[in-house]
Amino acid sequence: MLFWKRLGGWCRSLYIISGCVRRPWAAMMTRTYLSLHGVKAPKNLCTRSLPFCRRHPKAVIELGNDLTICNKLRENAAGISHRTVLVANQPGARLVVGNHVGISGAVLFCSKEIIIEDYVNIGTGARIYDTDFHALSAKDRRRNTPGAVKAAPVRICEDVWVGSNVIILKGVTVGARSILATGSVVTKDIPPDTVAAGVPARPVRTLPRT
Ligand SMILES: CC(C)(COP(=O)(O)OP(=O)(O)OC[C@H]1O[C@@H](n2cnc3c(N)ncnc32)[C@H](O)[C@@H]1OP(=O)(O)O)[C@@H](O)C(=O)NCCC(=O)NCCS
Repeated sequence: MLFWKRLGGWCRSLYIISGCVRRPWAAMMTRTYLSLHGVKAPKNLCTRSLPFCRRHPKAVIELGNDLTICNKLRENAAGISHRTVLVANQPGARLVVGNHVGISGAVLFCSKEIIIEDYVNIGTGARIYDTDFHALSAKDRRRNTPGAVKAAPVRICEDVWVGSNVIILKGVTVGARSILATGSVVTKDIPPDTVAAGVPARPVRTLPRT
């Protein structure tokens, strides 16, 4: 019995010690992975595994300092089902993430411009798209007509909290300090200091300024 208790203790210590090695290793691997995709790694990048990154050679992905990226369930037990995705897939696209931002298994898919300002938290499974991906007209979808897909810049202002599984669509600006309730689909601008919820998301409460 004593042996098993001791063995458990040793395993726990080993796990904790190996964590001290694994974290800097993961951050180093992520820096290398990002730089291979032409993305300058931020200062104080906090991550324990690799995100997924795709960048068109003529697109820009900028990541701010003190960025936390979670990619696996063990990094955020709120429920991560895939890696964080950072994509800028068109020439001239700009995906800009500010300082002190946290992203948990979310998708940031940019074909024009997505700006995430400082101190934004993006919850598990959230999706931020500045494009519809496909054209509205069936004819254009069949032909893949260039320029037929609607796209418009998205801006998430400072201190916004994006709840889990929120979807933010093209052309939306979310005002500073607002909160997007879990599962909402944001199709229109949300003013600052507002809780928005639902499909499509509507303001449901105004927050006091702190
Ligand atoms: C369906 C879609 C293509 C329509 O685009 P659009 O024609 O530009 O539509 P609009 O943004 O002008 O919205 C029209 C209305 O539908 C509502 N709406 C749009 N998408 C909605 C959604 N997912 N859920 C609920 N309402 C929605 C808008 O709020 C708006 O409502 P209103 O008329 O009361 O103001 C777009 O809303 C969408 O879902 N894009 C993402 C597609 C996607 O998931 N691609 C990735 C995988 S292939």
